[in-house]
Amino acid sequence: MTCAHSLLAENETAFAIDASRIVFGHGALDELGEHAKTFDCRRVALFTDARVGKLEHVARARKSLYHANIDCVVYDAVQVEPTDASFLDAARFAKEGRFDGYVSVGGGSSIDTCKAAALYATYPADFLDYVNAPVGAAKPVPGALPPHVACPTTCGTGSETTGIAVCDVLALKAKTGIASPRLRPSLALVDPTCTYTLPGEVVAASGFDVLCHALESYTARPFAARERKLPRPMSQGANPWSDIGSREALRIAGESLVAAVEGSSAARDALAWAATLAGVAFGNAGVHIPHAMAYAVAGLVRDFRMNGYPRDEPMVPHGVSVVVNAPAAFRFTASARPERHLQAASLLSGARVASDEAGAGAALAGALETLMKAARIPIGLRAVGYGPSDVAALTAGTIVQKRLLANAPRDVGEAELRALFSEAM
Ligand SMILES: [Fe+2]
Repeated sequence: MTCAHSLLAENETAFAIDASRIVFGHGALDELGEHAKTFDCRRVALFTDARVGKLEHVARARKSLYHANIDCVVYDAVQVEPTDASFLDAARFAKEGRFDGYVSVGGGSSIDTCKAAALYATYPADFLDYVNAPVGAAKPVPGALPPHVACPTTCGTGSETTGIAVCDVLALKAKTGIASPRLRPSLALVDPTCTYTLPGEVVAASGFDVLCHALESYTARPFAARERKLPRPMSQGANPWSDIGSREALRIAGESLVAAVEGSSAARDALAWAATLAGVAFGNAGVHIPHAMAYAVAGLVRDFRMNGYPRDEPMVPHGVSVVVNAPAAFRFTASARPERHLQAASLLSGARVASDEAGAGAALAGALETLMKAARIPIGLRAVGYGPSDVAALTAGTIVQKRLLANAPRDVGEAELRALFSEAM
């Protein structure tokens, strides 16, 4: 294999491919019971949120489990944008129920909550023990977890194929997460028909999450630039495997995102496939600056609410909190990997972008902003309620995301983050 990355003696020379088991296509959700049976499940906990719990997806999942003679107890109190408290509440339910398997039906919040519930019910610990450093102690997950079949009903987070669970730590007003290959669901059942009833705003927000997973994986620091150390981190950096998924996800998302927002079923099918490809890519490569900044943007929200989402509490949906930073972030990172930024701009816009390498960052930011306008998503941090006086707090909330920042193609410290947040206003 030819590889463009320069290899230094002390640096990484190999990459790992941790592929998830995936069943993709119309009707996949109705196969849930048969798949759960192959894991020898007899009694499963099904995690969902109150809204999705009332939709036909959960009824379909339960029916399929029923026909496979598997008991199912539903937990429908998943919090959209979960917290340490909501993770622990779900874990309490999981522990008391003595389940031998787990099912999640919903968006990333339901899937992440299910991962955390299975973890803390199986290997009880203080909450911060497994949480990423420096917020938590980043202790390794001690052993395998019971089977988890993840059934996404949005087309975005990719959580069904990753070993990451994200939450807010309320006392610290910080968004962080738990990352371990052991959290990766045993099987992802991706049924794009689940996305047909989603409001356009939810498709837009999750669609830009897909785009950013692909863009960040593709422009991440190359795996060979990392110091060789076993076990390899899940965020290995860009590698030939993640590049395949990223490029195709960008091409499809560029072509179908706006039509998917407008309600086309075919475009939603396509976007669900792009989300799956991007999820597999970023589960191996890792994301970087836009997601690191997003943790602070979501965690410090004051009063922003978005149509299509629960309105009882202020919330910046994950995909929006990521993409509002993305144009500024890619203008900054372009000088490290200009050819990749140009290629990504071409894939997104569906036409070869004529620009020299010096214009690569502007070209990618421009392609992204064109799509954001067409999908009617908030552009810039002011649009989600922030102003220049928030730059210090946003920077402080981002600098702790060391795992993500280290995956950026350029070194980024406090001064750079302050500049990025100012630009993203
Ligand atoms: Fe994301």
